[in-house]
Amino acid sequence: MIPPMATDPRAAAHPIPRFPAGFLWGVSTSAHQIEGAVDEREPSVWDVFAAEPGHIKDGSTAAVACDHYHRYREDVALLSGLGVDAYRFSISWPRVNSPGGLDFYDRLVDELCAAGVRPVPTLFHWDLPVTRDWLERDTAAHFADYVARVADRLGDRVTKWITLNEPAEHTLLGHALGAHAPGRKLLFDALPVAHHQLLAHGLAVRALRAAGASDIGIANSHGPTWPASDEPADVEAADFYDLLLNRLFADPLLLGQYPDGIGELMPGDVESDLKIIAEPIDWYGINYYAPTRVGAPQGAEIEFGGLTMPAELPFSVREIEGVPRTDFGWPVVPGGLTELLTGFRERYGDRLPPVVITENGCSYEGIDDQDRIAYLDGHVRALHDAVTAGVDVRGYFAWSLLDNFEWAEGYQRRFGLVHVDYETQVRTPKASYAWFRDLLRAQR
Ligand code: NOJ
Repeated sequence: MIPPMATDPRAAAHPIPRFPAGFLWGVSTSAHQIEGAVDEREPSVWDVFAAEPGHIKDGSTAAVACDHYHRYREDVALLSGLGVDAYRFSISWPRVNSPGGLDFYDRLVDELCAAGVRPVPTLFHWDLPVTRDWLERDTAAHFADYVARVADRLGDRVTKWITLNEPAEHTLLGHALGAHAPGRKLLFDALPVAHHQLLAHGLAVRALRAAGASDIGIANSHGPTWPASDEPADVEAADFYDLLLNRLFADPLLLGQYPDGIGELMPGDVESDLKIIAEPIDWYGINYYAPTRVGAPQGAEIEFGGLTMPAELPFSVREIEGVPRTDFGWPVVPGGLTELLTGFRERYGDRLPPVVITENGCSYEGIDDQDRIAYLDGHVRALHDAVTAGVDVRGYFAWSLLDNFEWAEGYQRRFGLVHVDYETQVRTPKASYAWFRDLLRAQR
């Protein structure tokens, strides 16, 4: 285990080392979190979920959010000012299903190309059309049809694609614990949701290849799991948590098999589905925020990170002591990123394609956000340490360009390099925006 370290002691004294030539620097957002304009598309499961009282902590919805749908030109200008190579955004499936929906992404992609910013769309970032359900196998085939429509329209200008964002969180938070849309509390009966999303990913890769795409990845959330102690019960619980967060998604994609007997719990003809799921991808996207400390179950419900963890779970999440925390309460551990990446390289060897960090960031209040700068500085250095250790890393996307709708937390958590005043929609670049711009200039 790498000792937790908050801000990198090299930060003040030394410039960030140079990343390999061609390294892709960018920022990320997602459709539901920034677009607004909900009346101009069919509803998603998130619209329904947020409308039910008690689901979103500040009682808000994403009906307007950052009004990016109407202000995308201003936001592309912010990307230009930042000097990023690429912009990761997501395409809303319900919007594409609605009249004029694809026209919006067409305009956005044109605007990005004109600004010299490479568009990197994610095809699913949790905003499922209300008419679909990941417990149903045919959702995977419907997803592939939608992907084919998008690729047909945008594929002349979009060359880099992401199939899914964090299927693990969508399964766990949305279908096992009920903290996210669609709000199901199925615990382990949510496993088919993971399988059907993985199947959807594989079918989407095939659809994108058929449309001529040659640069395809997925964005999975991963982080090291640290056992609470050396006691066998803690080690076993941590191993199980690691299985759910890390191996359950990475193993089928990269090794073509589910870990530790999980395949037997999955629906359908799993062996033949695995061949689709393991369809080769060109790079593997990782969203990294923090490691997790995990111990044996404590026999009671636990509140953690804004979540209620039921007593029946075979593990309990514990605090990581002695490290700084973001305003969200998440531990700040840059070395966890190096540990994660070198661990991935060890487990998957040559089966691991080049890696791109598709998200990394933190929530802090304020426009003079020195804490965010310290967080990003530490993590970019930790990423460079992984490169030095031999991990083939090709890009880094900070989360997020803008403050936005942080799911069940509403607007209370601010992850942006740019502050958004939700009353006036005025955007104000934070200190971290200037810091990131300067980093990118120094890397050229
Ligand atoms: C991961 C998700 O992909 C993104 O939507 C979310 O806002 C960030 N993590 C921060 O929680």
